[in-house]
This record gives sequence, structure tokens and C-alpha cells, in this order.
Amino acid sequence: MQELKEYPKSLEGSKSLLAKYLTKEIFQELKDKVTSNGFTLTQAINSGVQNPDSGIGAYVGDEESYEVFASLFDPIIEEYHGFKKEDKHKSNLNPDDLNAPNPDPKGEYILSTRIRVGRNVKNIPLGPAISDEQRDSVEKDVSDVLSSFKNNLGGKYYPLNNMSEEDSKSLIKDHFLFKAGDRFLETAGLNKNWPNSRGIFHNNEKTFLVWVNEEDELRIISMQEGGDIKEVFTRLTIAIDALSKKVEFAYNEHLGYITSCPTNLGTAMRASVHIKLPNLGNSMDEFKSIADKYNVQIRGIHGEHSASEGGIYDISNKRRLGVSEVECVQDMYDGVVALIKREKELA
Ligand code: ARG
Repeated sequence: MQELKEYPKSLEGSKSLLAKYLTKEIFQELKDKVTSNGFTLTQAINSGVQNPDSGIGAYVGDEESYEVFASLFDPIIEEYHGFKKEDKHKSNLNPDDLNAPNPDPKGEYILSTRIRVGRNVKNIPLGPAISDEQRDSVEKDVSDVLSSFKNNLGGKYYPLNNMSEEDSKSLIKDHFLFKAGDRFLETAGLNKNWPNSRGIFHNNEKTFLVWVNEEDELRIISMQEGGDIKEVFTRLTIAIDALSKKVEFAYNEHLGYITSCPTNLGTAMRASVHIKLPNLGNSMDEFKSIADKYNVQIRGIHGEHSASEGGIYDISNKRRLGVSEVECVQDMYDGVVALIKREKELA
């Protein structure tokens, strides 16, 4: 990658947080800085420079990047998470502290519930800066640990570069397979050496999943049909606990769990449901204002940047940093309860 010498023109007119906070002065201050892994400003901002329609537009290559490029990342983090430089993150993975009786016991609205967290291995660069050998060793260590899991968490690891036609079909059918990253991840450097050293683990019951070397080195996922959000969270906390006994994750008191995208810092958690809300879907202004009030995000059901289909939406927590895991799930839960209430009134 050619190192930028001058302020990138494509940012002029872009509405990304990168364009907002990378002033020409900050660009000059940071352009020759580099982390001990050799990660540069040019690499950190390439995704936003190549994709001026980004919401954020920057990724880091290692934990140190958040320090070295702090004059760019601090204001991005402050605006996205409402979290200040001197604030401290907090963690709470105790399901007993969650107040979440099934909001839809008859199964009229919620199709499925999914909660994921991102994790990265301590002292190894993050995806945008990891070497092929390091990526390979992450895959080997993590898949060994996962393959040793027993009982409810027991299952099998499927490497992407060595997968039978049959396994691939069944993973696609279950929506477990992940694809090469989109243009945002591609330009962040996250597709390097694809599909090697990437893979998916799932338990036999198909309720616990780990993606290896996608946007983060681990994405730990708990999911099931219906709206028993507490059961999904409880399983996730058990899985996180089992994994963290064997793999040390990158974490610090200020930023919580370290992730390559600043939006995922802190809990690195996205707790979501797929939910039928056709009437709210027809009054999008009201839908959005309820979502804002409860700190939840509305997406389509085919992932980020996708549209809704058949009145089904993906609703998830928006806050992740400076709030605990329990609070993230509680945000989603409270939002879903409010949305179902309004959907009923509109019907
Ligand atoms: N880089 C993209 C943007 O700035 C996505 C940001 C959040 N999503 C993510 N998968 N990290 O719009």
C-alpha cells in the first residue's frame, strides 16, 4: 500500500466520522506515525478513503493503534459511543442480572435471537495487520480448544479452505457460513489470504457458533429460534467463560475488549432478534424514533447494509462501550418490548 503523503481528496464531502475528525492538521500530525507492528495511518484509514460512503471509515491493526492514532480515534469513539477519554469500561456477564422474560411467548413476532461478541487474541495484531502465520496460529489454537468442548458446547470445526460440498451446503442453509468481507472489510485489509485460516465451529445442537478470523479473530455466537433472550445470553456467557480459560483475549480497562473496528469496542456485543414488524415498517419515522429512544438499531435481515424483507427486521443494541454486557442485552430487550407493544396497537 502506497503511504499517503497528502490529505486524501476523497474525504472532502464525505459524511464519515473519519472525514469529520481527520482534519488536515490531525492528518499532518499522524501521517508518519507507526505502531510497533508497523501499522500506519494510511492503513488505518484506507477503508474510509476508498469508501467515502462509510459511516465510520477507520480500523486499527493493534491495540496500540488506539494510542498512537488517539487524536483521530478518541473523537470517533466519543461520538459513536458517547464515551470519553477518561471513562472506564465495565463488564458484567452474569445472566442473573438480566431482566428478560420472553417478550413473545406465543412466537407471533420474534423469529430468532442471536447474541455475538467479538474477541481478539492478546499480543497478536488484529485482522488488518495480522501476518499469514499469525492468522494460521490463531486458527490452530482456537479450533483445538473448540474441538475439545463436550456436552452442550461440543461440535465440529469446519475450515473454509477444506470443506466438503455437503458441509458447505448445510452451513449455507443454516446461514452459518460467512463470506469474504465486503468492500469496507476488503479495503481494511481483512480479506488477505482468503479463505485460508478461516472457519466455523458449531455445536451439535446448532445453538453455539464461533467464526474464526473474520472481522475479528473470534466471533462467539449464541443463537436459537424464538424470543428466549435470557437462555441465549446464558449459553453465550458459558461459552465465553470456557474459551477464556484457554485463550487470553485483548482487553484493557479503558476500551474493554479490543476490536479492529472502533464501533465494536467495549463489550464487542451485538444482541439481536429477527422480528416481524410489518405495521411499524409502514411508518418508518415512528419506528426509527422508538428505536432511537431505546438505543436500538434497525437493520435488514441479511446482515449489515441490507434491506428488510417481508416486514422482518433485525433489531440490536446500539451501545457497546461503557455499558456492560447485561446492559447491552437489556437495551435490546427493552427496545423489543416497546416495539412489540406499538406493533400491536397499529395492527
Ligand atoms: N467500516 C464501515 C463503515 O464505516 C462499517 C462500520 C461498522 N461495521 C462493522 N462491521 N465494523 O461504515
